[in-house]
Amino acid sequence: MAAKKHHVPHVKVEVPPALDAAEAARQAYANDKALTRHHFVEGEHPIVRIEHLNKTFDGETQVLKDVNLDVWPGEVVVVLGPSGSGKSTMLRCINLLETPTAGHILIEDKEITGTSKTDVNKLRQNLGMVFQSFNLFPHLTAKGNVMIGQTKVLKKSKEEAEKEALKQLAAVGLEDRADFKPAQLSGGQQQRVAIARAVAMHPDVLLFDEPTSALDPELVRGVLDVMRDLAENSGMTMIVVTHEMGFAREVADRVVFMEGGVVVEQGLPEEVFDHPQNERTAEFLGSIK
Ligand SMILES: Nc1ncnc2c1ncn2[C@@H]1O[C@H](COP(=O)(O)OP(=O)(O)OP(=O)(O)O)[C@@H](O)[C@H]1O
Ligand SMILES: [Mg+2]
Repeated sequence: MAAKKHHVPHVKVEVPPALDAAEAARQAYANDKALTRHHFVEGEHPIVRIEHLNKTFDGETQVLKDVNLDVWPGEVVVVLGPSGSGKSTMLRCINLLETPTAGHILIEDKEITGTSKTDVNKLRQNLGMVFQSFNLFPHLTAKGNVMIGQTKVLKKSKEEAEKEALKQLAAVGLEDRADFKPAQLSGGQQQRVAIARAVAMHPDVLLFDEPTSALDPELVRGVLDVMRDLAENSGMTMIVVTHEMGFAREVADRVVFMEGGVVVEQGLPEEVFDHPQNERTAEFLGSIK
């Protein structure tokens, strides 16, 4: 690839302005109503709107190509796709860990992209993220990890933060591990602490980037159970990149298949899994079964 560098023109992408909120909601409903198990509420707007999202690295590697996706309040969207298809980049654009090259991302109809007004710290309070590699603070206990965002960012008192931390640790089955440091916990336990930490911030949307990929197989189940519980009982909006097909089939309201930086196909899990419309989706699903 490097050898071809001087032949490749810099990619310039022009996209239309973001839609008006009411018009966007109408179009999104028309597009999505048959593609998701989400129960639509009259007049509902998507909580996340992605319009014409493009991301280019180094001015030439176009990793996301005109991605359009709306996510509804409380919806669980599972994103599938081969390695390098742009799944992580899309998630990272949503919480501005990456800056989109062109296009619009709106959270609750507020544009977060291309505006210097976006308070990134405030935005990230509303967008929890769970990473493959847990990213816990090694010097803090499980409880300390769940408390720190609450005290530092939400400015909660230590008592309040502790109460919430213990509640969220209990919710992920770790009340008896509150005083353990990450190194004293299994990978699955560390990931459950990371989920408790994200949930304790009460974000509007939780983003998961392959949360079980780094785990030994016997630890995957416990983490998926916690995610399933969140999906079914918390009403939290979740965008989950995972290769766990059982989870996608059972828990997702909608499955989105990406390849080559494009959303190739999306729909109800049973439709995408059992009757993929696109050849590449079928091939991918066949390869991982
Ligand atoms: N910071 C970066 N600089 C240059 N290229 C990048 C950068 N981050 C990602 N890419 C490229 O973007 C493409 C998509 O990467 P991304 O991590 O989004 O894929 P993915 O679908 O999450 O893959 P995986 O399943 O392996 O996690 C890849 O070709 C990758 O090499
Ligand atoms: Mg990835």
